[in-house]
Amino acid sequence: MSKSADSDHDLKPEAVEKFRLFLNDDYGKELYKAAEEESSLIVDFTKLDKRFDELSQMLLEKPEHFMKVAKTAVDGIDLPAPVKIRFSNLPETSIVNVRDLRSKHIGKFVCIEGTVRRASEIRPEIVAVDWKCHECDNVTRHPVSGTFISKPFRCGNVLDGKTCDGKSFAEENKVMIDARWITIEEPFELTEGEKPSQVNVWLSEDLVSSDGRRMTDPGNRLKIMGILREVPKGKMGSVKLDFYLDANHVEPTETTWERLKISKGEEEQIKEFAKDPNIYDKLVDSMAPSLYGLRHIKESIILQLFGGVPRKLPDGTHFRGDIHILIIGDPSSGKSQLLKLVPEIVPRGRYVSGKGVTGAGLTATVTKDEQFMGGWVLEAGALVLTNKGLLSIDEFEKMSQEDQVAMHEALEQGTISIAKASIVATLPAKTSVLAGGNPKFSRFDPMRSISEQIDIPPTLLSRFDLKFTLRDVPDGKVDRKIVEHVMKSRHEADLIKPAIPPDMVRKYVAYAKERHSPQMTPEVSKLLKNFYVKTRSRAEGGGPVPITLRQFEALLRLAEASAKIRLSNEITKDDANRAIRLMKDSLKDLGYDTETGGIDVDKSEGGTTFSQRSKITRILNLIDQLSGGEREIVPLPKLRDMAAKEGIDTAEVDEIVERLKRDGTLFEPNPGYVQRP
Ligand SMILES: Nc1ncnc2c1ncn2[C@@H]1O[C@H](COP(=O)(O)OP(=O)(O)OP(=O)(O)O)[C@@H](O)[C@H]1O
Ligand SMILES: [Mg+2]
Ligand SMILES: [Zn+2]
Repeated sequence: MSKSADSDHDLKPEAVEKFRLFLNDDYGKELYKAAEEESSLIVDFTKLDKRFDELSQMLLEKPEHFMKVAKTAVDGIDLPAPVKIRFSNLPETSIVNVRDLRSKHIGKFVCIEGTVRRASEIRPEIVAVDWKCHECDNVTRHPVSGTFISKPFRCGNVLDGKTCDGKSFAEENKVMIDARWITIEEPFELTEGEKPSQVNVWLSEDLVSSDGRRMTDPGNRLKIMGILREVPKGKMGSVKLDFYLDANHVEPTETTWERLKISKGEEEQIKEFAKDPNIYDKLVDSMAPSLYGLRHIKESIILQLFGGVPRKLPDGTHFRGDIHILIIGDPSSGKSQLLKLVPEIVPRGRYVSGKGVTGAGLTATVTKDEQFMGGWVLEAGALVLTNKGLLSIDEFEKMSQEDQVAMHEALEQGTISIAKASIVATLPAKTSVLAGGNPKFSRFDPMRSISEQIDIPPTLLSRFDLKFTLRDVPDGKVDRKIVEHVMKSRHEADLIKPAIPPDMVRKYVAYAKERHSPQMTPEVSKLLKNFYVKTRSRAEGGGPVPITLRQFEALLRLAEASAKIRLSNEITKDDANRAIRLMKDSLKDLGYDTETGGIDVDKSEGGTTFSQRSKITRILNLIDQLSGGEREIVPLPKLRDMAAKEGIDTAEVDEIVERLKRDGTLFEPNPGYVQRP
């Protein structure tokens, strides 16, 4: 079999010999092992660079040529099987941002980094065809270019000094390799709010073995080195990308945080923050300062950013570290505003709307793409793309049925499994979710239990560590303060400057997450256990279950996060108490039954409670009685007297009246009087 025309004679024999020497000295054993296992040999670029920098330069500048040199060198070594050479550990300078890839990089060896957004199924591709000449029986290998299989034009084989003129050929053999296309999206730390750039990458042979496949499924972050090539005509269709990376080597880079460069000075600053006894308040003040109040929610989100410690038990049980928060609120209560601001202060954060997510949705989809990728393509949704980060999901209750199902697994296990058409995959989705939505009838109705008004299935609801409600109720004093705050934030920007700038918060979070996995002391774990057992014991005797194990796990995560803020490896009582306080706030917001004094988790997660509702109804009935059914003005003392006879005490009456006033069911025409509008 003759080699294709341009090969051997323009390879400098010295280059081949040098590479052979290098392999022999530095990789003798590994090379042989790779051949026996029919795998490839991964060569450390820096080693080659140290030994023969003219070779390493040739790899970067003329990779096509270099690969031939390498192949010739390997072929010259006595091995049980051919070995493909792959290169790792390229210098920083050869890393090109996806958005900076230009035509000048075509034909060069480059390294890119990013997250896999789409991946095709793995299919055999014809890379070359062997043709047999009818005249002289010589076989010529012709590479496939683009989608065309081309026959040689003229044989040209030289036999006994005579050149064969044969023009007719038969297909002898198709050379096939396994391959897949993936689309890489540039890393989160480069995009910050802009639309991330993408590039397509071709992976073949052992890069798509079963391990390779898992590593290159959507959601994974990779460093890929290879030759940038022009897209052959006929591929790509409407997608306007004119080059792709022909991968030589792929490395996972699951270091989500360390790419945020933290200087020595910043490290000192972070340590100072951690020592400050007011750090929790400072962080809360740095969170969405344009939004007035909402302190318990902001504090919870701060803990969410730092996160708990993921744990794996010896039996394989996995506990997530991610903290999920849900906010259900009236229109205009600041949810969207908050949800948009939070991703800006975390590494790898995104904001999406449950309703408006286009394409791959929140989780993942499988679609057909014959044009470019050829076949079924798996595309990562927002939860997968924010793996190890945070996703704000607005209009949460409006997400698709399909997403809702997949969301269960994502929130608890941190994965998304998909099995559709020929694609079966489990994608990573270790994402903290900050969800926001409206109640069922868009505004809370105090006459109905909260659970009735939340359009989210209880199974999904229970996966949120903390759940809060936001009511937009007219209240003169508060309204004035909010309006003043809004005016201030518009016109005196300095007054709402965050205590710690967002960039510093992001680094602080990254730093603490990377280094600290705080542990419980027996004392603290007793404190949390007691809270759990005590709250739960209220349910003894057949009452509603006040608190479940999911909430207990949430408490542990919250306490761990609180300790991380101090860069501490030990969880203190203060950390535990912070967790307990926020948990109580959350339970109260969604289900604390003020009349039984119990925390009724069943209510916050889908069950119902009647006592409060019945009292509200009874008060309203009394008011109607007192006003003769005519919506007349009713004196409060009279209402209190009547209610007392029914066993509702004055404090309760006043509280219910306040609530009804707030939501507009009643108003106060004169002090001391109420009236139905
Ligand atoms: N506590 C607050 N402090 C300052 N501004 C606020 C506050 N709450 C709401 N706002 C302002 O009110 C406007 C509406 O808020 P936003 O869009 O976040 O409401 P929402 O809760 O998402 O409402 P919807 O349920 O209708 O989507 C925004 O401009 C926001 O800045
Ligand atoms: Mg909104
Ligand atoms: Zn011939």
